Amino acid sequence: MLEELKKELKALNAEYAKIKTLPPEERKNFGVEMNKKKQAILKKIEEAEAASESDNLEPLDLSAPAAPNSPIPTFKKGSKHPLMTELDRVVDIYQSMGFAVLEPRQLDDEFHMFDSLNFHKGHPARDGYDTFRTKEGFIPPAHTSTMQNRALVKYKENLEKGLPIAVVVPGRVFRNEDVDATHEHTFYQCEGIYVSKDATMGNLLGIFKHFFSTYYGQDLRIKTQPGYFPFTEPSFELLIEKPKSLGGKGDGWLELLGCGMIHPNVLKAAGINPDEYKGFAWGGGIDRLAMMKYGLTDVRHFESGNLKFLEEF
Ligand code: DAH
Repeated sequence: MLEELKKELKALNAEYAKIKTLPPEERKNFGVEMNKKKQAILKKIEEAEAASESDNLEPLDLSAPAAPNSPIPTFKKGSKHPLMTELDRVVDIYQSMGFAVLEPRQLDDEFHMFDSLNFHKGHPARDGYDTFRTKEGFIPPAHTSTMQNRALVKYKENLEKGLPIAVVVPGRVFRNEDVDATHEHTFYQCEGIYVSKDATMGNLLGIFKHFFSTYYGQDLRIKTQPGYFPFTEPSFELLIEKPKSLGGKGDGWLELLGCGMIHPNVLKAAGINPDEYKGFAWGGGIDRLAMMKYGLTDVRHFESGNLKFLEEF
């Protein structure tokens, strides 16, 4: 197209040269006509050039990975936060055991934080969760147990088909706590929920044994001690042996999570008959798991945004 227009222009210029051969009285009209034609062709050329320029532009792919040898001297490649990597590892292990995954909200409500979990109104254990609240009365979840009721409701038709409910919930939680080396206001937990006709604590201990030996890549001893949570009966705390290879003295136990048999009222709140079905649940911090894995002593590193720390992972 552009080439043809340029040829046309050349031919026009050649024709224009004829002006010299015309009688003087005709030259003016001829000149005006020729000029009109020339302007029309020039306009078309300009348009064709603009169009071909935008045709030749490479489309910009905003999702393309950054060039590894970028000429920008301060160029640094971003990477996944170490806690997200650990959270993915944890979820992978549970998925390999057949658990479905649900994600929690970052703003939840009184019903899911407390009522559906058998915390009666005015229950003293509510205070133990140091919950933040928005002016409108919403609660940034203080534990991933806020998803228990949703998980039970969502998957309860499994039970009618003779299948168990098996769900894990990895998520970010918030507590209005004084921050120190072992406490953060924002941290990560993973919740597990399992319901069937014949679930037992023995099954749960089997899950833990497999989980911890896979996560830490070695066989670790585990034990339980009595605990208290309104949403489980009986309730336990699970401890794992802290071996020398992971910074322990050889005789230390680390308390890692809470667990127990799901309280009948929690099943009832989700419309599941506790005379027919039983379940167990557990929940604990990912930060602590990762701290032991990497021999870290200060949880505050994770939320610090300190690149020197983050680049070590
Ligand atoms: N949500 C509890 C906490 O953050 C931990 C927990 C205890 C979760 C017992 C459970 C459970 O699912 O059964 O302190």
